[in-house]
Amino acid sequence: MACPALFMKPIKIKRRENRRAHACWAERLIGTMTGLSIQNLSMRFDLPNGGHVQALKDVSLDLKQGELLSVLGPSGCGKTTLLNIVAGFLAPTEGQMILNGHNVTGPDAERGMVFQQGALFEWMSVRDNVSFGPDMKGMPKSESAEIVDHLLDVVGLQDFKEKMVYELSGGMQQRVALARCLANDPDVILMDEPLGALDALTREKMQSLVLKLWKETGKTIILITHSVEEALLLGERLIVMAPRPGRIHKEYRLPFADMGVGADLREVKKHPDYAPTREEILNMIWNMEEEIMGRTEESA
Ligand SMILES: Nc1ncnc2c1ncn2[C@@H]1O[C@H](COP(=O)(O)OP(=O)(O)O)[C@@H](O)[C@H]1O
Ligand SMILES: [Mg+2]
Repeated sequence: MACPALFMKPIKIKRRENRRAHACWAERLIGTMTGLSIQNLSMRFDLPNGGHVQALKDVSLDLKQGELLSVLGPSGCGKTTLLNIVAGFLAPTEGQMILNGHNVTGPDAERGMVFQQGALFEWMSVRDNVSFGPDMKGMPKSESAEIVDHLLDVVGLQDFKEKMVYELSGGMQQRVALARCLANDPDVILMDEPLGALDALTREKMQSLVLKLWKETGKTIILITHSVEEALLLGERLIVMAPRPGRIHKEYRLPFADMGVGADLREVKKHPDYAPTREEILNMIWNMEEEIMGRTEESA
């Protein structure tokens, strides 16, 4: 991997030894780094007709442990591709990722995924869904039962433990999905439009729950959404991606996620910076979409 500038300070030894010394330094320091470092990721999909799609181009991002990042951008700008690469489901054509000092090369329980819907085992009870990960790891039943009880309490589903998943509403199912993800104790939680299929009121409650889980667990979270409001409320950092090729267009650091923990999110929206930031981002995405439409019409 490329050494960050910090590691390149000259040491007064011969050139070849110098290079070796740099490598050791880098390895030692990287070995103690916590957090996720996404370095120059590019993803190109080759198509059967001989063409290709450059879904991501040179995306770099460093996340400290416990950071909450929201990702916004017009449809097709590579949000899901980025998340799938971080999850290890896709191998990038260029670039690499380092999580807590080691290279990410495939899926692992250290990175948990929460999908929009449909990823639960519908024929199993809530309890069995949440204990699935610990059971697969061979955790003793008494221990996994304790974890399940605690997590169902946290997500407000203690009374629904014995219900089958298909008996639950969409909002409750997403609560189960969050609990199931947390049961594996991942370092990073990846969410791809997790609240996208919910009605407005349920969505608001779930946004509060995501903030509560973020603060209580100290997990690093990357949340993709196409709602500007959601990205503002659920991102202490927010990146706006641009399409063709998918890339990071702009990054914000925002106070709203911290303010929203345990608070009424409607009150948070009254902050004087909220509406102007929302308008700025809405215009940005509007303009990107107009540009995409223009290009599509030109090529038609
Ligand atoms: N497996 C694939 N094969 C070919 N093209 C793909 C594949 N997956 C995604 N794409 C293309 O890559 C681009 C980014 O897709 P995606 O990451 O799903 O965007 P988003 O989640 O932002 O809507 C789109 O143009 C999409 O059509
Ligand atoms: Mg997507």
